[in-house]
Amino acid sequence: MNWILLVHVFCVILTITGFVLRGIWMMTGSPLLKARWVRIAPHVVDTLLLAAGADLALQIHQYPFVNGWLTAKTLAVVAYIGLGTVALKRGRTWRIRVAAWVGALLVLGYIVAVAVTRDPLPLGQGSVTPAAHAQEQNPGTSPFADRKRFRPAGPSARPSQAPGSPAPVADVTP
Ligand code: HEM
Repeated sequence: MNWILLVHVFCVILTITGFVLRGIWMMTGSPLLKARWVRIAPHVVDTLLLAAGADLALQIHQYPFVNGWLTAKTLAVVAYIGLGTVALKRGRTWRIRVAAWVGALLVLGYIVAVAVTRDPLPLGQGSVTPAAHAQEQNPGTSPFADRKRFRPAGPSARPSQAPGSPAPVADVTP
């Protein structure tokens, strides 16, 4: 693990912990939510988080609005910031704030899942075709360039029977 990734993941842990704590303070009406350090620290952590994220993107040559998973992640970060602002500042009623806080946590979960799988649909099995995935990993190549790699190796690799049908009789012709 390179140290920028370490900083990024450390900031992820700090930002999630901080957001959960501030949500609890919001719900319980704690004066801690208005403390000076509580208002400043998240900006420091989030700036570092985003800067490290941008550096990682440069390192792996994958970018928002070029690679689907980073586009999804960046848009989700914007949604998280919006929901977070409603939850901790702008929400007019307690209910709106709590709903926005829960929504922001769900978005955070999505961001982490996208980061770990590098897939904009981390739970949708097979949502990305092998060719599209190959292109995601190697932008600049044709989505069809890797077709061969994903073709069954030969006749033996093709499914020879429908599921549930009786096993084929062994071919004994000399
Ligand atoms: C709330 C905001 C964010 C969260 C919670 C988050 C979360 C994560 C996590 C958990 C990882 C580690 C994935 C792993 O090693 O398996 C990661 C890696 C990464 N993140 Fe973020 N991230 C955020 C924002 C960003 C932003 C804004 C960018 C860039 C536009 C970014 C770019 C990256 C990149 C390039 C990696 C390395 C992925 C890899 O090498 O596989 N992140 N992020």
